[in-house]
Amino acid sequence: MNIFEALRESHDRQRGYADALIQTHGDSKERVDVYKHLKAELQAHAIAEERFFYIPLMQSDNGIDLSRHAISEHHEMDEMMEELDETEMSSPSWMATAKKLSEKVHHHLKEEEQKFFQSAGKLLDDKQKESLAGEYQKEYEEQLAEA
Ligand SMILES: [Fe+2]
Ligand SMILES: [Fe+2]
Repeated sequence: MNIFEALRESHDRQRGYADALIQTHGDSKERVDVYKHLKAELQAHAIAEERFFYIPLMQSDNGIDLSRHAISEHHEMDEMMEELDETEMSSPSWMATAKKLSEKVHHHLKEEEQKFFQSAGKLLDDKQKESLAGEYQKEYEEQLAEA
């Protein structure tokens, strides 16, 4: 497995949870569960992806801007989750923020897969693509276990 395949596995889960979240209603067990899964997935993925994908890419001049951009979007998603944590789950503004988060997740994953992965493919060699996959996966699993 290479780093791109490893990252995509989580991306597919993120899309599933983001889509499921905006189908939930009120302060329901389903909403609590789906949100908990989405938050854990986004946070574990972002930490492992920054550590074993974007930080290595920043070693190349051509990897700096895309890494900064992606990491700033991770922060934006964190802020939206903080807002959700501080809002009453049954209120309409909770769903308004959840929809913004879902749109942000889809935008971010599309940009990574369609733009950044192509650039990264040229900046990393085959050995790095394979070793980063293992390191990413280990970190991701540890983060998820702690969530
Ligand atoms: Fe990602
Ligand atoms: Fe990301």
